[in-house]
Amino acid sequence: MVGRRTFLFMEDGSVTAANASLSPRTSERPPYLGFGLGLRPQHYQDILDGSPNVDWFEVISENYMVPGGQPLKMLDRIRARYPIVMHGVSLSIASTAPLNMEYLRDLKALAQRAEPVFISDHLCWTGVHGINLHDLLPVPYTQEALDHVVSRVHRVQDYLGQAIALENVSSYVQFSHSEMSEWEFIAELTKRTGCWLVFDVNNVFVSAFNHEFDAHAFIAGVPKERIVQFHLAGHEHNMSHIVDTHDAIVCDEVWDLYRTAVRHFGPVSAIIERDDHIPPLAELVAELDVARKVATEELGQSHVAA
Ligand SMILES: [Fe+2]
Repeated sequence: MVGRRTFLFMEDGSVTAANASLSPRTSERPPYLGFGLGLRPQHYQDILDGSPNVDWFEVISENYMVPGGQPLKMLDRIRARYPIVMHGVSLSIASTAPLNMEYLRDLKALAQRAEPVFISDHLCWTGVHGINLHDLLPVPYTQEALDHVVSRVHRVQDYLGQAIALENVSSYVQFSHSEMSEWEFIAELTKRTGCWLVFDVNNVFVSAFNHEFDAHAFIAGVPKERIVQFHLAGHEHNMSHIVDTHDAIVCDEVWDLYRTAVRHFGPVSAIIERDDHIPPLAELVAELDVARKVATEELGQSHVAA
């Protein structure tokens, strides 16, 4: 049992804190899933027509938070064959704007339908004052921001009835008033909320280059026992800085960092995440095989089989 506060959402829109605790079920570590892909509509038919060597799929939550139609039908069919994880981009957990209860209601409804292994989003903010900036923006790593995000993660987890996972984003700016490193902020966040972590290997690589920190310090600094998923993706290297495009193959340096991460964290579910320039399914499955090979070389076959 993880002792913590529960917030009750009152009809007048206010929020009341009450003593409660996460049930063992909701605080249980999600199971290891093996090697998956981000589900993209271009691949629906190939997935349903064949049996690609993919253990599970990660779906973009917002694409299926709709009342009906083809996307939901396809999701149901794929869900009938594969475990899925729901991965959102609009929670805006670090924003100072009020939590979007309509969004959370729809997210919860989708989770009740799709029964994902877990629900994830990003440690970021995406807008404020009613403006959506459609980007995953970094957080100042201050005690004040930490207290704010901790409180919101508790509220979201209480509303959803389960611990969520948050992913590290790539960034291009840092805040001069940050009081701690990104990994110290993340470590404290997990300790105080019981949330899980999606470790995006590419995002760590991009931010480490852009801000000149040691990616290995990031790996060593985040709590090993909270990492439930790896993301692997490509980027655009502009020599002076890297742009996280998620539209290319995983580069050698990111594979090297993945190898180090696997060695450090042990068996963790992993996906190839391609958001643009989507290639045929077979190409992504082949890239996923590289992830399998790296993990097998580091951990042995018996530890990486789903
Ligand atoms: Fe990612």
